[in-house]
Amino acid sequence: MPGLVRFGVSLEKELLGAFDKHLKEKKYATRSKALEDLIRADLIARTWSEGTGEVAGTVTLVYNHHKRSLVNKLLDIQHDYQALIVSTQHVHLNHENCLEVIVLKGVPGKVRELSGRLTSEKGVKHVSLTMTTAGE
Ligand code: NI
Repeated sequence: MPGLVRFGVSLEKELLGAFDKHLKEKKYATRSKALEDLIRADLIARTWSEGTGEVAGTVTLVYNHHKRSLVNKLLDIQHDYQALIVSTQHVHLNHENCLEVIVLKGVPGKVRELSGRLTSEKGVKHVSLTMTTAGE
């Protein structure tokens, strides 16, 4: 693989044992891939906490669509953040509940703000924000 660099890592035996157990549970084929994922997760967390770079994420929400004022409010909020929203998917879970997945791309503060506004609406049953990278 171009640009691949090998380096040695010294770890306490006990920590390496715990790491190897983690790899086995997660079905990693190599320590390299597991280490790469940990490093990426840490860098993504840093981008989110610094708040300046572009990030991507999803907001998943579950709500009762029989509450018409809530449906309108959720749509109004989403239109306030239309520059941030890449796509939305709506699933009719059952007779009264809807699940929506909103894919977002932008600065962390705005993504968190939108997630917070959706979360705080009365009648929304659950909101989950997934924080990931925009790929840079
Ligand atoms: Ni629905």
